[in-house]
Amino acid sequence: MLFKTILLALQLSGTILAVDFYQYSQRGRDCSGPRRVCTDVGPNECCGPAQGIESFYAAQCRGCTSTDFSILWRESGGSRCGVSVLAGNGGGCLAGGIRKRGQSWCRLCGTRAAGELAEDVVGTGPNGTFPECEKEVEPDLASRDGATYYNISSGIPAEDRAAIEKWIDDEVTTASLDSKLEKYKVQYTPPTEE
Ligand SMILES: *[C@@H]1O[C@H](CO)[C@@H](O)[C@H](O)[C@H]1NC(C)=O
Ligand SMILES: *[C@@H]1O[C@H](CO)[C@@H](O)[C@H](O)[C@H]1NC(C)=O
Repeated sequence: MLFKTILLALQLSGTILAVDFYQYSQRGRDCSGPRRVCTDVGPNECCGPAQGIESFYAAQCRGCTSTDFSILWRESGGSRCGVSVLAGNGGGCLAGGIRKRGQSWCRLCGTRAAGELAEDVVGTGPNGTFPECEKEVEPDLASRDGATYYNISSGIPAEDRAAIEKWIDDEVTTASLDSKLEKYKVQYTPPTEE
C-alpha cells in the first residue's frame, strides 16, 4: 500500500514537474514546421538553442496546464532568458514578430487571457516581471516535420549535431538527411495535453 502510494506520488510528480517546449525556427504565427524540443524542463529552467543558432520565432509548452505560465525571452546580460517578451497560460502557440532566445515556465505565477498575447506587454524591467531562471539548458531533439525526431543533445558529436540542425532549419532543401545521421533518429512521445 505504502509502496503503491509512493509510486503514485512519483508518477504524479513526474507528470507535473516537467514539460516539453517546442520552439519553431521559421517565421510565421501558427507553430508549425521545423522545431527544436526541450524535453523534461523543470520550473524556472531556461531552454534555448545553442550558441551560433540564432533563435526561434514561436513556441509552445507541451504539458503546461491552464494554471501554468510559459514565458518567451530575449537574450540580455549573457542570459538566454534576459528580458521577457511574450507569455501565456496552457499549451497554446506563443508567436510574435521578434526572435526569441529562451523559454521557461512556472506554476501559478501569471495569468493572461487567450487572445491577449500582444508582444512586449510583459517584462519591462531588466529581468522582466516573471521569476528569474535558475538554470540554462538546450533543446535535445529536433524535427523538420513534427513526425520524425533526431537527437541533438550536447552528448552527440558537435559536427553531427550541427549537420542535423542545418538540415532541419533549411527552408528550401528537398534533400533527405544524410544517411549517416539516421542513427540519431529517436522515438519521441509528446506529453499528454491537459
Ligand atoms: C535582475 O537580475 C540581476 C542579476 O541576476 C539581479 O542582480 C537584479 O537584482 C535583478 N533585478 C531585478 C529588478 O529583479
Ligand atoms: C541522445 O544522445 C545522448 C548522448 O548520446 C544520450 O545520452 C540520450 O539518451 C539520447 N537521447 C535519446 C532520446 O535517445
